[in-house]
Amino acid sequence: MKNADAYYLYDEAVILDNLRTLKQTFPGFRFFYSAKTNPNRHVLQTLLANGCGIDAASAGEVRLAEGFRVAKDDISYSAPGKTDEDLRYALPRCRVIADSIGELSRLDKIAGELGGGFEIGIRINPAFGMDAVAGGPSQFGIDYELLDSLPALQNVKITSIHTHIQSQNLGWETLARYYENVFALAENLKTRGFSIRIINFGSGCGIVYDKSCQTPLDMEALGDAVRKLTEKYAGTAETLIIEPGRYLVGKAGVFRTRIIDKKVSRGKTYLIASGGMNGFLRPAAANIAKLYGPVSRGAEPLISCETPCEISVLNSAETTEVVTVTGNLCSGFDVFARDIALPKAEVGDYLEFSNAGSYACTLSLREFAAQPKVKEFFRTVSGEVVE
Ligand SMILES: Cc1ncc(COP(=O)(O)O)c(C=O)c1O
Repeated sequence: MKNADAYYLYDEAVILDNLRTLKQTFPGFRFFYSAKTNPNRHVLQTLLANGCGIDAASAGEVRLAEGFRVAKDDISYSAPGKTDEDLRYALPRCRVIADSIGELSRLDKIAGELGGGFEIGIRINPAFGMDAVAGGPSQFGIDYELLDSLPALQNVKITSIHTHIQSQNLGWETLARYYENVFALAENLKTRGFSIRIINFGSGCGIVYDKSCQTPLDMEALGDAVRKLTEKYAGTAETLIIEPGRYLVGKAGVFRTRIIDKKVSRGKTYLIASGGMNGFLRPAAANIAKLYGPVSRGAEPLISCETPCEISVLNSAETTEVVTVTGNLCSGFDVFARDIALPKAEVGDYLEFSNAGSYACTLSLREFAAQPKVKEFFRTVSGEVVE
């Protein structure tokens, strides 16, 4: 680890702690880890070994899950724009969630070619939104209003529904209202002849990126509300699924990068590190977004917050100085932070960035400018660090 100029370090103990909290908050639910948030193999292994399934966002992620011998029923594949090839590959290997009426027809045809008899789900674009507003148009899912005009299906049977309308929520009341709306949607569909075995509520639980303006999701209050809902809607479905990504791993990872140059330009001090946007894109992306106005929700999952992480220096300096921290790409946008006070750092010191466990490594520009690829390390509960 010491020889790497830029690397991620994920902490198994933190992941397991977060999973425990989710299990307490959602008793009786299954958790399908949203693999796209961080598909690192140690992270996947940890979550799979502790009872999680996989939320796959592509046929590639279905293949990834298959490589870990995840059971068919424990993989849910939901994504817009699946090709025929994707559907043909995925149908026998997981639960495919149809994302449009056109896809449903293609799925039924392909299922026929494969012998039929597949249980599938549909992703619904509900009539409700997350914040007590009506649902709008969306590239994701089938509009609720269209559910009466689904094509007749011969080779697949719809036995589950899936919704996901917003990530990164920190309000337990908002989330509880959303879950209640989804339960009510399932009940409504059952009265209209759908036989629903599984409700997949998607994700929603957020994490604090910026302590100065965000407060953590109150998991106790959310847990109380969830318990009341599961009592009220007992029997609505056999299986209830949540698809968490960042809640499990976002705070379990840090990004570290070595300072390779330090210079003063017309009175401003620059720390230049080896892994910028090609290592950890999120801080630079938030800076770029700020140029166009306040950071809004629309930019998830790449941009969640104006200040997406804390930056610290891994040294024992007792004095601070104001610095601008950049990467080493030939781009004026390759900036982690401008004019921040940090412990006085020198060339060779490492910078550490928090909140780097999720939508971090894979969302960065790792192929850009033929820079060395950042590494990923994993600290097990026993303290061993493995690559
Ligand atoms: C369908 C679906 N499920 C789960 C997630 C995971 O969200 P999060 O990482 O915020 O938990 C996402 C994120 O975009 C998603 O689109």
